[in-house]
Amino acid sequence: MKILGVGSGAREHAIAKKLSLSIYNPKIYWIGENKNPGIVRICMKSGGEFIQGSTTDPEVVSSTAKRFNVDFVFIGPEEPNFHAVPDHLERLKIPCIGANRSVALIEMSKAEMRRLQWEYDIPGKLLFQTFKSAEEAYLVLEKYADSLTWLQNVALKPARQAGGKGVKVVEDRQIYLHEEKQKFKSKHVSWLEGYMRGYGDIEDKILVEENVWGPEYTLQCFTDGTTVLGMPMVQDNKNAHEFDIGTETGGMGSISGPGMCLPFLTIREYEDSIRIIGKMVSAIQDKTGKRYHGVVAGQMMLTEVEGPTIIEMYSRLGDPEALNVLHTLKTDLVEVCLAIIDERLSKIRLEFEDKAVVVKAIAPKGYPDNRSLAIGHPVAVDEAKVSEIGCELFWASCNLHEDGRITTAGSRLVEILAEGETLPVASAQIEKAIPYVKLTDGWGLFHRSDIGSEALLKRREELAERVRRLYLYRVEKGTVGKRVDWLPGVGKVDPVSILKNGLRR
Ligand SMILES: Nc1ncnc2c1ncn2[C@@H]1O[C@H](COP(=O)(O)OP(=O)(O)OP(=O)(O)O)[C@@H](O)[C@H]1O
Ligand SMILES: [Mg+2]
Repeated sequence: MKILGVGSGAREHAIAKKLSLSIYNPKIYWIGENKNPGIVRICMKSGGEFIQGSTTDPEVVSSTAKRFNVDFVFIGPEEPNFHAVPDHLERLKIPCIGANRSVALIEMSKAEMRRLQWEYDIPGKLLFQTFKSAEEAYLVLEKYADSLTWLQNVALKPARQAGGKGVKVVEDRQIYLHEEKQKFKSKHVSWLEGYMRGYGDIEDKILVEENVWGPEYTLQCFTDGTTVLGMPMVQDNKNAHEFDIGTETGGMGSISGPGMCLPFLTIREYEDSIRIIGKMVSAIQDKTGKRYHGVVAGQMMLTEVEGPTIIEMYSRLGDPEALNVLHTLKTDLVEVCLAIIDERLSKIRLEFEDKAVVVKAIAPKGYPDNRSLAIGHPVAVDEAKVSEIGCELFWASCNLHEDGRITTAGSRLVEILAEGETLPVASAQIEKAIPYVKLTDGWGLFHRSDIGSEALLKRREELAERVRRLYLYRVEKGTVGKRVDWLPGVGKVDPVSILKNGLRR
């Protein structure tokens, strides 16, 4: 058997490794923009090959698949999906684990995803408005600035998945800062308009969303369009520094287990989340008439208004979340892929080891705000030592050169994984491996030591408990998903109908 993988981060290193462990003993071929040393090694060992090339050009990927005559293609990141790589492969009758462009719209357009949710009445909805220009957005934000509370406390987003950039959450609850916050909103919607000029593939430009709060988690699933099989819940940690301080990154590390749930979430919340994801898959298939083959995931939050709530959808595995679930997956990944291709996923039993898993990313200083500073530093990793300690190292954003040198490529350099009976045990294990990842030119690296620690877990538990109590109160009173707002001189209003019909005083 021959398989071609697409992408070159730690997620793809983890996918390549899992595929290579299959009883089918496949030859692993790979195409990626960066020469990831971990993937290169797996390809060579299996008798396959690593090709450095574009992952978003359908011609390049499909000609590589044809050249090696592979049995199927596994797509790691989202951009190949958005660029119709799976569609192109499908036309050439090359099976592909990857959402085609039409269904991947649930990730590519955050605006479409929300519209779909409202149209099909799928739980986990948030109030939202989309705009084609900053001016249009600001007029609405300004008009309702002193009244509708949900438009005071908002998430301002690019309407498209834009590589983890541009989301700002603004809470305007203190009157003395009101003017400053308005100014900030105005400035940010202008920035978003400019930023979205780089993306010509979507009409909506700015998404303004109701602001919610609560613990976040990712629920990744395999789907063949009919069956949706859930993996263990994972929590990614986005902020650059300890205790959720600092700018948002692509993810500084993730926790999962033991079991299918996170320690601060319940099995009922897991099941409700799976149902929501299943409904999203049905809705997008119904809307587009296309089948969904691959991975679908909800990046979710437990909120007071809706319980399990979608923040955004993924049309692929998360990075670092992929590492957690692939590590404990007991079912042969190639079997899962073949079942997706033949649309017989309902016959597969997805089994996972009952372990707690922690992943921590190590990144060069400069990431994520000033990536040019984080590029080109020489790397020295004692991989033997890392595994001696009982950890596993996945290569992420770096490049392997002809002479064997490895240099940083600007994003997270490596991701280190450890398993344990509990999350704090696995977290402490990784700390022992950290000193064995170095840059030899003296440039700094950073990571988050707190991921999976007792102290951070306690925080998550307290937050989840607060939100859950409010949510369950709503369940009891039958007010889940209902919003009421107050307008001076008008009284109680329904913000949904105001947005639909305009404000009549
Ligand atoms: N409606 C909202 N209310 C409160 N917080 C939100 C809301 N939407 C997004 N956020 C916060 O902002 C973060 C980033 O938002 P989102 O996931 O939509 O954007 P992104 O750019 O795709 O980020 P990433 O790629 O890093 O996941 C979320 O993880 C969440 O913490
Ligand atoms: Mg996100």
